[in-house]
Amino acid sequence: MPVFFQQQINEHTRLGVWKIEETEEFFKGNVPGHRDVTHPHKRLQHLAGRFLLQFLFPDFPYHLIEIADTRKPFLPDEQYHFSISHCGDYAAVIVSSKNRVGVDVEEPKEKILRIAEKFMNEKEFTNFYNPLTAHDSQLTTLLWSAKESVFKWYGNGGVDFKQHIHLSIHLPANESIDCYFSKNNSTLKIHYRQFEGLVLAWVLS
Ligand SMILES: CC(C)(COP(=O)(O)OP(=O)(O)OC[C@H]1O[C@@H](n2cnc3c(N)ncnc32)[C@H](O)[C@@H]1OP(=O)(O)O)[C@@H](O)C(=O)NCCC(=O)NCCS
Repeated sequence: MPVFFQQQINEHTRLGVWKIEETEEFFKGNVPGHRDVTHPHKRLQHLAGRFLLQFLFPDFPYHLIEIADTRKPFLPDEQYHFSISHCGDYAAVIVSSKNRVGVDVEEPKEKILRIAEKFMNEKEFTNFYNPLTAHDSQLTTLLWSAKESVFKWYGNGGVDFKQHIHLSIHLPANESIDCYFSKNNSTLKIHYRQFEGLVLAWVLS
């Protein structure tokens, strides 16, 4: 059973990361009513994400999932809030019966450095980088992933990562990043874990 990482965040909220080693048939047998996706690996990722919803909360009602105009999946009655992310052979899901949630999983790649200026503001460059870390793709991926988790937590789209999401850190960092989200005036704490070849970030409020 390839649970890569699992955490009970609080009494209402669970997080899971699955390393996908199963075939499509395994997931299809366990996930009723899934959406069809053309690309085979993306389809596998999609199915693994859906599978994790019930893995974390067995009474999760798949049949009630709707997709918003922003493409965010949701349950209209908010029995659960949830967020899904996938990357490579991993799927990450956070589900909560109470808290609004967002999750993101990323594989660090050098190319993230080329777009850092598009999603980070001046203050973040000063706060997070020094001459040693300025070209650190692991750190830059973490900051990107942190902002993606906030984007998903918000769920309504129209977010400018540079302008609306402000990250800062108080040392000792303790696997969390402070965030001010100006779009709805929220102060958030983003949690993260760094694994070999994988970064995971999540937020709840
Ligand atoms: C929508 C977005 C979050 C998807 O991210 P991705 O890296 O392609 O893929 P991930 O695997 O992490 O996430 C995909 C999942 O996010 C969820 N999702 C899609 N749109 C969403 C939205 N608007 N809000 C919340 N969750 C969303 C879905 O569950 C989807 O998986 P599923 O279709 O299998 O259910 C991303 O494409 C995006 O638009 N990010 C914002 C980018 C941006 O605005 N950048 C500006 C600064 S440079």
